[in-house]
Amino acid sequence: MSGVADDERAWWKEATVYQVYPKSFDDSDGDGVGDLPGLIDRVDYIDELDVDAVWLNPVYESPQADNGYDIADYRAIDDAYGDMSDWEQLRDELHERGVRLIMDLVVNHTSDEHEWFQRSRREVREYADYYHWVESEPDEPPNDWESVFGGPAWSWDDEREAWYLHLFDEKQPDLNWANPDVRESVYDMMAWWLSKGIDGFRMDVINLVSKAEGYPDGGPDSDGAEHFMNGPRVHEYVGEMVDEVLDDEAVLAVGETPGVSVDDARRYVGEDGDGLSLLFQFEHVTFDHGEHKFDADEPDLVEFKEILAKWQDGLADDGWNSLYLNNHDQPRMVSRFGNDEAYRRKSAKLLGTLTHTLGGTPFVYQGEEIGMTNAPFESREDLRDVEVRNYVESAVDDDDGHADSYEDVREAVEAMGRDNARTPMQWADDDHAGFTDGEPWIDANPNYTEVNVERARADPDSVLQYYRDLAALRDRDLLVYGDFELLVPDHPNLFAYTRTLARERDDESGTAANATDAPARERALVVLNFDDEPTSFEVPPDMTVDGLELALANGEVPAVPGRTLDLGPWEARVYLTPALDGSTTDATTRTDR
Ligand code: NOJ
Repeated sequence: MSGVADDERAWWKEATVYQVYPKSFDDSDGDGVGDLPGLIDRVDYIDELDVDAVWLNPVYESPQADNGYDIADYRAIDDAYGDMSDWEQLRDELHERGVRLIMDLVVNHTSDEHEWFQRSRREVREYADYYHWVESEPDEPPNDWESVFGGPAWSWDDEREAWYLHLFDEKQPDLNWANPDVRESVYDMMAWWLSKGIDGFRMDVINLVSKAEGYPDGGPDSDGAEHFMNGPRVHEYVGEMVDEVLDDEAVLAVGETPGVSVDDARRYVGEDGDGLSLLFQFEHVTFDHGEHKFDADEPDLVEFKEILAKWQDGLADDGWNSLYLNNHDQPRMVSRFGNDEAYRRKSAKLLGTLTHTLGGTPFVYQGEEIGMTNAPFESREDLRDVEVRNYVESAVDDDDGHADSYEDVREAVEAMGRDNARTPMQWADDDHAGFTDGEPWIDANPNYTEVNVERARADPDSVLQYYRDLAALRDRDLLVYGDFELLVPDHPNLFAYTRTLARERDDESGTAANATDAPARERALVVLNFDDEPTSFEVPPDMTVDGLELALANGEVPAVPGRTLDLGPWEARVYLTPALDGSTTDATTRTDR
């Protein structure tokens, strides 16, 4: 029995979430675009991963200016993906297997094709203030805010003869959350989806919904973010949304919150916060960016550890972390933080070990579990994503752009572009990786001949098999609720830490034969070598070497560990120490509860 109080537990703390980008997952009808029937065919595959929930990227009706993050109808499924009965079948098939379904909620903005925007631009009375409109001169945008995708955050609308705000693409106008009718419409829509039996929402850029009144300029060296990131009324809005529609602890509410600090995060997810379950912070996936995300440096491990440890400690007693290195907006983790050539499999396993053994809820992005890598984009015609296309255009075509040709920016595009995450899921060594019988909307990574599910399934040493072991490892309360402590913070190649869980003394079972009154504890030691060279690690003096029991490793390990652990390139090891009261650590897997 572990010392985790019942009111501390939540299904989503103990869960692993698998993220599906449906457009690139599986195409059932040969039109080159992944769809819901294709995903339904793969539900058994997802179930085999032993994950607890699926987060589905947007499948709503959309003109696809930003691959579905531009929604034209929140209550309809886009034809390209199928229809509502397909979605219902997906929900049921997941639920039958005990897998929950989390939907993407994109309410900072809609598509300009949404009927709300269409009415708003015609100034239909109750919709006139649904968006941020400013009636200044046509050649004078209201302020200097910049769009995340490059260029000004304002566009002129000829019909209304006014400027409207779009923090993303011009086809993604921002909703005006200061208008209570907007908020009510959003809450109604959320309640409607909840009534359809979903298990939670992942909330797109939810910390951008409140904009400073009067739209002040950002000033020198600012894109204006200080006036809309964690804006003045954001906690009022998010708190209200939780009270109105999410006041059920069984519903997972994950906020996507770029630019939050640990203190900000507590205001969203802490005990006295707005009531979100957890959030995606960005520090550990942006610290390598230069002035722009496309001039990123090699990530420095010491800094990476410092950031992750800060978040582990910062939310340890108040709030909850999400654990991710990949998603549909990030380059592939093996290419960015690992070695996607000589040590692709090893480093993929090592990075998976990290995201499954820190404190928080792991999110696994499709393809991560087979070690998918960044892709080559030989010409700019191969690019699909609005952000990367805008970047290439501004770098190469603009008069003040810094590049002469695509070749000059290709390396940056291949390192950081979002299309890396969106190439088709690699199912098999068949045409287009087995993703489609037609022409895929984006080319498959040519390494699908080697890196694919079919191969991984047949190979006992594959990343896929290892991910199943990771899922089993997390059945321990220790790895969900244990306290985190960073070891060797300044070591340039080693990421090492412990997780420690106090255990209740259980007199009846006789397992409390602890000579002292000290609470019994169990502990995990995680040691990860982030380098192509071998290295060694000294087991800390407060751990007995005799008691170290290997729980998982991605390489050959000596049967009896010495005080010095020698690790080969990209080697990952997880040791458990038996509880001090003499019972085995296995006694507290959750399946036993
Ligand atoms: C964050 C989403 O993850 C990203 O894909 C999208 O482009 C922006 N928000 C805008 O919705």
